[in-house]
Amino acid sequence: MTRKPVVFITGAGGEIGHGLISTLAQDPDRAIITLDLNPLHPELRPLVRRHVVGSILDANLLETLQAEYEIDLIVHLAALLSTRSEFTPKAAHRINVEGTMALLEFAQEQGESHGRPVVFLYPSSIAAYGLPSVAEKTTAGKVREDDYSWPTTMYGCNKLYCEMLGIYYSRHYRQLAAEAAHRKVDFRCLRFPGLISAVTVPSGGTSDYAPEMLHAAAQGKPYACFVRPDTRIPFMAMPDAITAILSLSSASREQLTRPVYNISAFNPSAEEIRQIVMQEFPGAVVDFKLDAKRQGIVDSWPEDVDDSAARADWGFRPKYDLNRAFREYLIPTIKGRYAQ
Ligand code: SER
Repeated sequence: MTRKPVVFITGAGGEIGHGLISTLAQDPDRAIITLDLNPLHPELRPLVRRHVVGSILDANLLETLQAEYEIDLIVHLAALLSTRSEFTPKAAHRINVEGTMALLEFAQEQGESHGRPVVFLYPSSIAAYGLPSVAEKTTAGKVREDDYSWPTTMYGCNKLYCEMLGIYYSRHYRQLAAEAAHRKVDFRCLRFPGLISAVTVPSGGTSDYAPEMLHAAAQGKPYACFVRPDTRIPFMAMPDAITAILSLSSASREQLTRPVYNISAFNPSAEEIRQIVMQEFPGAVVDFKLDAKRQGIVDSWPEDVDDSAARADWGFRPKYDLNRAFREYLIPTIKGRYAQ
């Protein structure tokens, strides 16, 4: 079998994978292989060289891919999100932590076999933070990457630990071995805010109230928002998330002063999102029905993040602020989608 340089995307059928595949496929020189528990959406299937239906925890499957391909970039998207993980914490640990460990080992072996560092793009999250109280959340404002690293959710703990694991593989792997074995994995991590896509709806997250509100209104369905109107966390439109993945993964190593980067685009309150949605869909029925437990999770996430390192090191600049995200991307795309 000829070895071909490829990008390998896990969890490729999810929200981020959807946008990422469409964008990556515009580059004819890049081969994409994907892995997901489910078959790929029929629109995406022709865009990838090979799609494997299976689990990141299937060692035989990873071994086969290891032997067949020369992989330069891994975008490891497979995960259980925060709400889902609270219902099944053991499964969350298996998928989010053991799965990531398996992929880091995979990357290490790839790097050892072809001799070049494998860029490992890891999506972390605002869930890696844990603010102790709403009062402190308000006074903390924009939090920096190294502050408030006390997540309260299983998902947040998993993400924070896997950030550490990635750093271990890239900088300290087998540090007592006679011959240096590190620097085969070039670990780069983005801490995403809540993401809002016009073409897919998330499942199992706790920032889901924003996209759910919008997609429900666009379909003429009533929606009860599960957090208080004044709840505020950072968000980003999906195209900016995709651009960030591509920019960070292609940045030169020398530009990067840190392994983990915050990124954010806007941070409206739930009420501000409701108002924009109501303006665009005047007949929509959106009210608030508090779920105190899910509220507690969102209250532990920062109201904004300091993304100045991403801006300085690799030129992160979101294209969509709140207004543009809704008026130029979300609303027109969603209206087109549900009109079909
Ligand atoms: N959007 C994710 C969630 O709500 C946070 O990364 O779980």
